[in-house]
Amino acid sequence: MKALAVFPGSREIKLVDMNDPDISEPDQVKLQILDVGICGTDKEICAFEYGTPPVGEDHLVIGHESLARVVAAGPAVTRLQPGDLVVPSVRRPCSHPDCRACRSGHQDYCYTGDFRERGIKEAHGYMAEFVVDSERYMNPVPTDMREIAVLIEPLTIAQKALDQASWMMQRRPPWFDPAKEGSEFGSGLTALVLGVGPVGLLGAMALVSAGFTTYVYSRELPPNPRIDLVTAIGARYISSQTLSFADLAGEAGNLDLVYEAVGQSHFAAQALRVLGTNGIFVMTGVPGLQALIEADPARLMRDMVLKNQILLGTVNAGTEAFAAAIDSLNGFHRAWPETVEALIGGRYLPEEASELILGRPAGIKSVIAFDSAA
Ligand code: BGC
Repeated sequence: MKALAVFPGSREIKLVDMNDPDISEPDQVKLQILDVGICGTDKEICAFEYGTPPVGEDHLVIGHESLARVVAAGPAVTRLQPGDLVVPSVRRPCSHPDCRACRSGHQDYCYTGDFRERGIKEAHGYMAEFVVDSERYMNPVPTDMREIAVLIEPLTIAQKALDQASWMMQRRPPWFDPAKEGSEFGSGLTALVLGVGPVGLLGAMALVSAGFTTYVYSRELPPNPRIDLVTAIGARYISSQTLSFADLAGEAGNLDLVYEAVGQSHFAAQALRVLGTNGIFVMTGVPGLQALIEADPARLMRDMVLKNQILLGTVNAGTEAFAAAIDSLNGFHRAWPETVEALIGGRYLPEEASELILGRPAGIKSVIAFDSAA
């Protein structure tokens, strides 16, 4: 079968021929990969700034945002059968007996750092025609989501972040009375999204759906299709080229939640300064090598203490966030069908993948269609 791999030693990215994987454990399923999304993490891996091949191997098959079809199931598989659509999760647990997170199936909270991530860290990914893995890492997807389900993995990032933010926003304020507040946890609150990439746009959809007055702030100027998508979902777009962070905060009022989805340290540092009272700042970006910036930790500490602020980092996602993201994406698709579909800029052949990853301008989310590879 064909697979796209990076070779850090020789700094190459190429399509390789590999043997099809076979089921070797009773709880495993064999998957035919349908779609694989390209994201910033793939670009960093292909720039050799991130990512690690499996131990003892010279290459890493990349790809972690995927949609697949089950083609075979081992005898101990109970939930899935051939023909089912699934989105596999990314992270696999460490083997330390005392890692409470991994031992309870929550490897996104792994304490040891010895987790593996498919397509990223010490485990081959999904840019391949076939993959074998354990049923427990599969998230079943309704068949009518075939065209958009590749967006589920990037949405899990926002989903996990918002699940945690909603928990804090509803339990922390002593005056919060669920009987009096609406069912939307963001109603009456203001959110700011940094960035108009897929994680930012999906995050904005989640925030608007949760009832937040949502601003999206990025450097792009109109006309720009990404800005049109922001407007189409009822969020307000502001360009950093026309309004400073301070003026933005003056206009938006108390920023209750800032959702950082660009992974740019200088941008995040400026945004931290405008986080509102009792606000939560969520970081989702994983920056690569970046220029050093000047920072004012004393101001940060003063603000965090005097304004009861929370700085929340969130990585990866577990089973609950995948299930919730599948529901949310369905909801977004019902509310804004054309906008959700427009997030997928195009489907391309595996032969075009490395060029797209290395920078050929394409749509918002470029997808490699592996089912056309054979
Ligand atoms: C992936 C996460 C992963 C993170 C760090 C992101 O692009 O979506 O699953 O944990 O990179 O490796």
